[in-house]
Amino acid sequence: MTNQPHCLPVLTAGMVGFGMIFDETYRPFFEAVRRVPLYSPETGPVDVSLAAVATRTGSRVEQYLADPASVLRGFRSVSGPAAARDLFATDVRAVCIATPDDRHHGPARDALAAGKHVLIEKPSVLDLPHLDQLTALAERHGVLAKVVYHKLADPDHKKLRTLVTDKILNHVNNGYCSLLEPKSISGGQFSEWIRGRNPGTYVAVHYLKLIDFTFGPDWALDRVTATGQRGLVGPADGPTWDSVQLQVVYRHPDAREAAFDIHTSWVTPDNFPGYVEQEVQFRFDNGVWAAHQRKRGVELTVENRTPRELKNTPNYHYNGTFIEPWGERSQRGYGIEVIERFFREVAFVEYGGPAGERAERLRQMRALTYNDVSADRNCVAIVQAMEAILARAAAGVPGCLVKVNGPGGGLALYEPGTASATILYPGRV
Ligand SMILES: NC(=O)c1ccc[n+]([C@@H]2O[C@H](COP(=O)([O-])OP(=O)(O)OC[C@H]3O[C@@H](n4cnc5c(N)ncnc54)[C@H](O)[C@@H]3O)[C@@H](O)[C@H]2O)c1
Repeated sequence: MTNQPHCLPVLTAGMVGFGMIFDETYRPFFEAVRRVPLYSPETGPVDVSLAAVATRTGSRVEQYLADPASVLRGFRSVSGPAAARDLFATDVRAVCIATPDDRHHGPARDALAAGKHVLIEKPSVLDLPHLDQLTALAERHGVLAKVVYHKLADPDHKKLRTLVTDKILNHVNNGYCSLLEPKSISGGQFSEWIRGRNPGTYVAVHYLKLIDFTFGPDWALDRVTATGQRGLVGPADGPTWDSVQLQVVYRHPDAREAAFDIHTSWVTPDNFPGYVEQEVQFRFDNGVWAAHQRKRGVELTVENRTPRELKNTPNYHYNGTFIEPWGERSQRGYGIEVIERFFREVAFVEYGGPAGERAERLRQMRALTYNDVSADRNCVAIVQAMEAILARAAAGVPGCLVKVNGPGGGLALYEPGTASATILYPGRV
């Protein structure tokens, strides 16, 4: 506990969305920071407090508050169609947006316009015009707009990037990534908003950002193709996808191409031994990196409890509840650390030095390309391209390709057998 709690600067936070990911990463962060304020030499101790929550119905908030074990208390709960705007009218300084994928843009736009720092769950937004708008609003209102990409904080991926930066692994040529979610996600958890959605947008972005951040920025995104399967989550001829296979091709400065295949699904059986199945392999001129995100050495069997309630091959590095060797109970992992980083960045902007130097501190935090929305262009471009390709396939035209920054524009969609393109985004990606 802090010695002088009433003297500390306080960052008040708001949540839009109070679902699964709130419970998994934001809740443990807000609980932990109640006990121990953020600290850096520049800011000194800074309290962070969850002040308000906006949701569609308010029912999960009620459930949370009815549980005597719940730690977070005293925050305001607003619900209904105008909930997010009601929240932005309060004096919260930072807003975290954890609504369904296709409901990020509206609350993010309104929060930035109200002068709040914003953290958005991945995928930030679904198209480049929306990203342009958020970037411009953050600039105009002098606040941060950031997106959650926790895979970049995974120690294995930090080491991969270190090996690439230090030129131990040279010149990535190609790779594959696979991320398979259980059926309970598409059939239960997301059933309210699943229609017309696809698992590529939901989870391929984790790997898109890993690839773009680790192997870029001195290369150019060149083209995107995608296909997939339907028939389990929705009708076989409908707009809702069970699984998606995406290919993205980049061009290195020496004109050699690098291609990545990213396979995603949300119809894997629920009795799968891990929460999600995640595997990658990247091949270089002089090496291969292969990783499995849940087979990191732990294998657990508990009669009647694995693999549903407890998992056979858990990833405790992402998120786990522990008794620390010094006796304290904790919940930690890189999924939570990345939320904490955002609040550290906000604290640095607001309290990291004299008010007259705030603009310079803001510039420094905006320059962090791992999470700033201005550095999310390639990922959002790929999502926009993939969604357009899947929509054309659902409309009876499979096999489209999106060319990036070609003669036709930033994102130009070509249907098989046609020379002319539909321009999805005219500006440069
Ligand atoms: N970082 C990760 O690994 C990770 C994991 C899971 C989910 N996510 C992302 O987090 C986001 C939320 O996912 P989830 O699993 O928590 O979903 P969820 O369905 O469990 O929760 C969604 C929440 O949003 C609220 N909501 C919906 N529409 C709203 C609206 N119009 N205004 C205000 N609130 C609204 C709901 O009331 C609910 O509280 C998604 O974008 C998802 O992609 C990220």
